[in-house]
Amino acid sequence: MGSNGTVTELQRNSTNWTVVVDEIVKMEKKIFPKHESLARSFDEELKKKNSGLLYIQIHGQVVGHVMYAWPTSLSASITKLAVKENYRGQGHGEALLEAAIKKCRTRTVLCITLHVDPLRTPAVNLYKKFGFQVDTLIQGFYSADRPAYECTFLK
Ligand SMILES: CC(C)(COP(=O)(O)OP(=O)(O)OC[C@H]1O[C@@H](n2cnc3c(N)ncnc32)[C@H](O)[C@@H]1OP(=O)(O)O)[C@@H](O)C(=O)NCCC(=O)NCCS
Repeated sequence: MGSNGTVTELQRNSTNWTVVVDEIVKMEKKIFPKHESLARSFDEELKKKNSGLLYIQIHGQVVGHVMYAWPTSLSASITKLAVKENYRGQGHGEALLEAAIKKCRTRTVLCITLHVDPLRTPAVNLYKKFGFQVDTLIQGFYSADRPAYECTFLK
């Protein structure tokens, strides 16, 4: 099913900044364990020059978001992706990831990387659907007993 929401870029200094960030922080707290959530550091993360955030709003409510960054001059990364539980399976994750990849490609990069817990099957499937390949399994990435796949998408 295709997403029926519009993907919007969160603009620095926009009037809706606080409202959107507050909603996303709430979502982060609900979806991710503390050590994986950006809830506490969201504002600082977003103020970094080499990063951005896209979100989908439906009926005035943020239902999903994706963060991307350019950690080096030659690589981009997807640092966060989440869709509210009752809005999943409707194509929003796909729409957000597609838009984030497009954003990443606005700079000359050789690859786009990301990390994902192998147990997050929907996310792993979504990334593979878009052509991300699993390069390696990094033990202790999220916490002592939670590894991560490091995945790359070559341009
Ligand atoms: C991963 C996530 C963002 C997917 O969002 P979504 O809006 O439900 O995804 P979509 O409806 O766009 O589905 C796109 C693809 O994702 C995969 N997928 C989605 N839900 C799935 C499920 N329950 N089981 C298996 N694969 C699934 C499929 O490949 C699907 O493509 P298909 O419909 O052709 O099979 C969402 O499940 C989520 O927020 N999960 C919790 C947070 C998370 O794990 N984030 C990633 C951390 S890095």
